[in-house]
Amino acid sequence: MTTLLDVRNLTFHYADRAGPVRAVDNMSFSLARSGFALGLVGESGSGKSSLALSIMRMLPPNVARYDGEIWLDGQDLIGMADDRFRQEIRWRKLALVPQGAQNGFNPVLRVGEQIIEPLVVRGDVNKRDARARAQELLAYVGLPSEVFTRYPHELSGGMKQRAMIAAALILQPPLVIMDEPTSALDASIQTQITNLLKRLKRDMNLSIIFITHDIALASDVCDDLAVVYAGQIVEIGSAEQVLLRPNHPYTQRLLASIPRLHTDTRPQFIPGAPPDLRRPPTGCRFHPRCPLAFDHCAQEIPPAFEPEDGQLVRCWLLGDRR
Ligand SMILES: Nc1ncnc2c1ncn2[C@@H]1O[C@H](COP(=O)(O)OP(=O)(O)OP(=O)(O)O)[C@@H](O)[C@H]1O
Ligand code: SF4
Ligand SMILES: [Mg+2]
Repeated sequence: MTTLLDVRNLTFHYADRAGPVRAVDNMSFSLARSGFALGLVGESGSGKSSLALSIMRMLPPNVARYDGEIWLDGQDLIGMADDRFRQEIRWRKLALVPQGAQNGFNPVLRVGEQIIEPLVVRGDVNKRDARARAQELLAYVGLPSEVFTRYPHELSGGMKQRAMIAAALILQPPLVIMDEPTSALDASIQTQITNLLKRLKRDMNLSIIFITHDIALASDVCDDLAVVYAGQIVEIGSAEQVLLRPNHPYTQRLLASIPRLHTDTRPQFIPGAPPDLRRPPTGCRFHPRCPLAFDHCAQEIPPAFEPEDGQLVRCWLLGDRR
């Protein structure tokens, strides 16, 4: 079976007056099959949204250097002409629920009109059938049918997020990237959204890239987890490997920062702040904050070591440089 999405050595910088911002640096990962969820977890500014926007070809114009490969279902997305990408890939094979999607609807148009727009524009179906399809999706994501005729400001944050998910599904893409779909929502609504994502995987065989800063939330939905730090994936593996046998000191600290029931241990926060990606630290980018750092860490970027089958970790502690 063809791998659904394969991202290889993706690297790009934003041009900035103070120098290039190294937002995505040599990132590689894949989604092996349908109905599969990968969680991309990391602190603010680590490059998660930049990665999502690059896969959707929605990056801002100030992208400077751009290298690497993105393959979707065996098709080379980077080499593909813009027209073809728009007609065959975007929304049809690959959709995005962008960060801050709750503000993503046009305030002067009814929600339903915006959901069916890609169907109508493509002329695939008539307006009545498009409307029926949207009503089905609204019901599926747990919204009443009258949402179709409502304006965005008439919906709560959680309702808008669900409506955005329905909009992403209108052309039945096999893969949807959801960028922080639960942020700015209260805890009970967050749980409803993560339950919806689990149903989408199970019932519609949908593959999901779930972007979040909350590793606990990602672990609830995802089969694989990728931990992103300062523009790089520092650890990736099955959710079980990453949660139960984390090898990267940053992953270990992210997990230690989660509050736990029935223990006396207090959550431990990671000291220091993420680096400025205009001037990232040399060698391992985590070294200024890492309690286990040793001399070599600042000198050379760690390659990906494989402590277990399928688990890749960029940390010199797994090599023989000590
Ligand atoms: N158009 C741009 N020009 C210059 N720098 C940018 C641009 N867009 C993003 N950046 C920078 O790139 C880095 C990565 O940003 P990105 O939005 O991808 O991070 P993120 O992980 O999604 O963060 P958050 O969790 O806050 O959403 C940040 O340092 C950000 O300031
Ligand atoms: S390479 Fe060194 S600094 Fe980086 S995470 Fe491993 S021990 Fe810490
Ligand atoms: Mg973001």
